[in-house]
Amino acid sequence: MTSYVAAIDQGTTSTRMMIFDHSGRVVAVDQREHEQIFPQAGWVEHNAEEIWENTRAVAAGALAKGDLTAGDIAAVGITNQRETTLVWDKATGKPVYNAIVWQDTRTDKIVAELGALGGGQERYRAKTGLPLATYFSGPKIKWILDNVDGARQRAENGELLFGNMDTWVLWNMTGGPEGGVHVTDPTNASRTLLMDLDTLSWDSEIAADMGVPLSMLPEIRSSSEEYGKVRERGALGGVPIAGILGDQQAATFGQACLSPGEAKNTYGTGNFVLLNTGTEKVLSDNGLLTTVCYKIGSNDTVYALEGSIAVTGSLVQWLRDNLGMIGSAAEIEKHARSVEDNGGAYFVPAFSGLFAPYWRSDARGAIVGLTRFVNKGHLARAVLEATAFQTREVIDAMNADSGVALTSLKVDGGMVVNELLMQFQADILGVPVIRPVVNETTALGAAYAAGLAVGFWASEDDIRNNWAQDKQWDPGMDEQAREKQYRNWKKAVTKTFDWVE
Ligand code: G3P
Repeated sequence: MTSYVAAIDQGTTSTRMMIFDHSGRVVAVDQREHEQIFPQAGWVEHNAEEIWENTRAVAAGALAKGDLTAGDIAAVGITNQRETTLVWDKATGKPVYNAIVWQDTRTDKIVAELGALGGGQERYRAKTGLPLATYFSGPKIKWILDNVDGARQRAENGELLFGNMDTWVLWNMTGGPEGGVHVTDPTNASRTLLMDLDTLSWDSEIAADMGVPLSMLPEIRSSSEEYGKVRERGALGGVPIAGILGDQQAATFGQACLSPGEAKNTYGTGNFVLLNTGTEKVLSDNGLLTTVCYKIGSNDTVYALEGSIAVTGSLVQWLRDNLGMIGSAAEIEKHARSVEDNGGAYFVPAFSGLFAPYWRSDARGAIVGLTRFVNKGHLARAVLEATAFQTREVIDAMNADSGVALTSLKVDGGMVVNELLMQFQADILGVPVIRPVVNETTALGAAYAAGLAVGFWASEDDIRNNWAQDKQWDPGMDEQAREKQYRNWKKAVTKTFDWVE
């Protein structure tokens, strides 16, 4: 009897495997961090072979910790950092270049050139739901083919494959050069700037604009179906791989945001607010993305509006790793609590330019409002508040796009253990913020997609029934104070523009 479902979560800073029981509770977890490679300002890379090694290690590790074997696992799902782009050799399995991470801005010139073909930043919006920006995979593939010796010719000969990290992990798990399955799902494909949102297929005109041969792109299948089995040698040998969801869509699914109008915010490396808009594709007039939320087997495609914020949790890491201002991420709350407020300081972390709702690759980070009064505690507060202000900006955009004001926000991810931040988030939004009991919604969402495909869970009602609230924060700040701080934040944002020529 197989009693569990596993999920591999290949994230920006680490790779994890989590094992869940039928009620959606975590039974075992193993996790490994990988190196963040910063070759020059604005560039961010990962070593894809290190990530694959870590994937194998955490799969074995989680099974061992749970005292389980492959025979106990009904299915495995994959969820992943989205957009991060890898090109590898089909025959050897060797990447031709490091993975270019979603935060990387090296494609700004490529993006400007594509826009200059006509339509500017909106060139591909109607087909893909996305503005032209450095964030997405298509221009990153073009950069690799343009800059790695011989890569374009090899790609045109059909020797190279492209994948986001879901595809890289799946291809390797299913045999790599010996029969690996080259597949992705529509949630990941919808982040490449290469997929038509209506047909869920690659768009040959856009691919031609970017010089990307269609033959190197993975097949797009649904988010919940059996793609193949783990090759016998692996720890999970023989287990069906039956779900793929980009990490933010997985968190939306794991949070049971399964009806139009339901939204979640994940506080990870960045923050990502997704609003389920049902089978309606809503194009944004306010700087949000339109993206695939999930496609379960042959059911209709469900879409979402997304507010993507590049830097939130990674700002706390930056404070720890680059400045040494705190010893651990958890320490920031202690410093923030040592003061009453931000002392007039605002920190706009435009490290990857600004994502939603601005989409400005020319922006760079700024700390403003400094006086001699400002101390470490005020800066700690400004760092935490940056997450809440950026979230407010994308929620405002969402309310404007949908015409309906959000009445509460479900939250998850690493930073939601920070009580001060959660209270400030509710204050600055003016609506309650709600945290579920199982905060590991990303892995859980991928497990649900896989478990639904093999009948481990019967229907989406099981997901709704498994969701339970842990804690709610209600807004406490008066409106005048709230709006004054928000105005200051908006002014601070304008100071980050025009830093890159
Ligand atoms: O779009 C990028 C997003 O998928 C990364 O998420 O949680 O790995 O930082 P995370």
